[in-house]
Amino acid sequence: MCGIVAYLGKKTAQPILIEGLKRLEYRGYDSAGVAVLANGTVRIQKTKGRISALEEILEPPQETENLGIGHTRWATHGEPNTTNAHPHLDYTGKIAVVHNGIIENYATLKTWLQNEGAVFASQTDTEVIANLIGYFYANETADSQQNKFESAVQRALRELHGTYGLAILCADYPDMLIGAKKGSPLILGVGSSEYILASDAAAIVEHTTRAIYLSDNEMVIATSKGFHTKTIANVTVTKDLKEIEFSLEQIELGGFEHHMLKEIFEQPNVLATCMGGRLDKANNQIKLGGIASYLRELTRTKRFIMTACGTAFHAGLVGEFIFEQLARIPTETEYASEFRYRNPIIEDQTVVIAISQSGETADTLAAVEQAKERGATVLGIVNVVGSSIARATDAGIYLHVGPEIGVASTKAFTAQVTVLAMLAIEMGRRRHISSAEAETYIDELAKIPEKIRTILDESDHIKQIAAANVNEENWLFLGRGFNYPVALEGALKLKEISYIHAEGLPAAEMKHGPIALIVNGMPAVFIATEGPQYDKIMGNIEEVRARGGKTIVVATEGDRNIEKHADHLVLVPRTPEIFQPLLTVLPLQLLAYHAAVLRGHDVDKPRNLAKSVTVE
Ligand code: G6P
Repeated sequence: MCGIVAYLGKKTAQPILIEGLKRLEYRGYDSAGVAVLANGTVRIQKTKGRISALEEILEPPQETENLGIGHTRWATHGEPNTTNAHPHLDYTGKIAVVHNGIIENYATLKTWLQNEGAVFASQTDTEVIANLIGYFYANETADSQQNKFESAVQRALRELHGTYGLAILCADYPDMLIGAKKGSPLILGVGSSEYILASDAAAIVEHTTRAIYLSDNEMVIATSKGFHTKTIANVTVTKDLKEIEFSLEQIELGGFEHHMLKEIFEQPNVLATCMGGRLDKANNQIKLGGIASYLRELTRTKRFIMTACGTAFHAGLVGEFIFEQLARIPTETEYASEFRYRNPIIEDQTVVIAISQSGETADTLAAVEQAKERGATVLGIVNVVGSSIARATDAGIYLHVGPEIGVASTKAFTAQVTVLAMLAIEMGRRRHISSAEAETYIDELAKIPEKIRTILDESDHIKQIAAANVNEENWLFLGRGFNYPVALEGALKLKEISYIHAEGLPAAEMKHGPIALIVNGMPAVFIATEGPQYDKIMGNIEEVRARGGKTIVVATEGDRNIEKHADHLVLVPRTPEIFQPLLTVLPLQLLAYHAAVLRGHDVDKPRNLAKSVTVE
């Protein structure tokens, strides 16, 4: 949520900031801006709208402008307009700040600063940070250990309640860039004689793959002579340089029209990578290095709680069903935003599993903290290596699917389900399923990537289905058992990017209300693959048809009965019921994608959404 990029080095800052912002635009895109230090003064250029709108108003940069900060915004405080766009300059005109997060005590600080003579131009909480630093900079003398700028930032940070990822520059310090982090990610890329400070490695990899990841309550001070890190309480911390694990190629479109489509089509390869080295066919077992030392505890645990938001929550629901089927351990899936504020009962031997693509979702992170405080063992299933949730959990399993840029999550969902399935097989194997059963599951899981390829071949056919229904404003998605969470996910995908109203439901629940919505021509997407509930869902399909609804049915290859029940049909290969979500979700991802493109929407940057929700 919001992208931050800053540069200090020998090159001209502005073009580097703009390139970086383009790579981060998926984090927020309602306004954007840059500030560079130009001949001892701060020059800020910002506008409402996308980076492309910012580019149109930019003045030509000068070679001597080697320090700058940039921001692409997802509005929290204050409407998305040019005044509220970042960077924000303090009332003395010396301090410029870009910020990701929320300052909870901003109103109190604002009143206090106004009484002290500070003037505010925007409605943002960020301007409070700029003015607070500006106030301390103007009114306090630094101690002998620190320069005045660093001292003022540190003093200001101690007053802030809430979350922040910050990049800050000062007109009097042309060779100094300061960053600080609490609750929002911040990474310092360390190049040869240059630094890129960013909220996301995607803005850094073009310049360097060596970086330090700041922890909460830490700040970094970079100059041409080097950098140092410390806590805001002024305790020096030594950070190791880490290698950023993904390449530029992974974050580029590679010939696809959108990141979302690229990521849908990447699924066979990335799921194979996710399983790579983990499926030990020779010994009929699953190797999950990250949690190896916890496996005994897991197999003896009395209860699992999965916690997550959005698409990751739907993956958790699928995982719940697979855990109960294979491991026979009671499992519940909770929205992290609910779990964190309840008074959850965490008994001895409760294991909490947090699922998150970004590893930065504020609610999921808070749920992790809540579970830890109550004594649970907390595991993470996370994609972004070194992210906050990955670090906050006791142990975890990475997805290893590479960066996901499309705001609507696709490959992360199938990878999350794959990881949960692997964990369930291993626990099942250690508890009660036979070696032969484990072997069958491992073999079948290994076949999933190839089966997904055959569904991807149906993309054009699915596009035609989307075209035939794209003008309908209300859709239903219905599934039973393992495919009930897939129905939820299909509806979410369609809502997110095509702005069509959609509801996902367990198919039998339709009769308890939503059936009243069905009118002539209303699309109802059924997941009606083979399984114990097949006949039941046929009944539900007929209930919709009897009321004039149009049925788009996802069924199993070789089903000879289904054609007469479907206005539109997509067939997926056969797989054990527990793995069906890994296949049945594909047509729904493609359906949402094509519907959104046909409606003319920017699929990778849907309105009002952000890829990583780092605020409550
Ligand atoms: C946002 C994204 C969703 C994602 C959710 C959870 O709402 O738009 O695509 O599913 O956050 O994100 P996480 O990174 O925790 O999986």
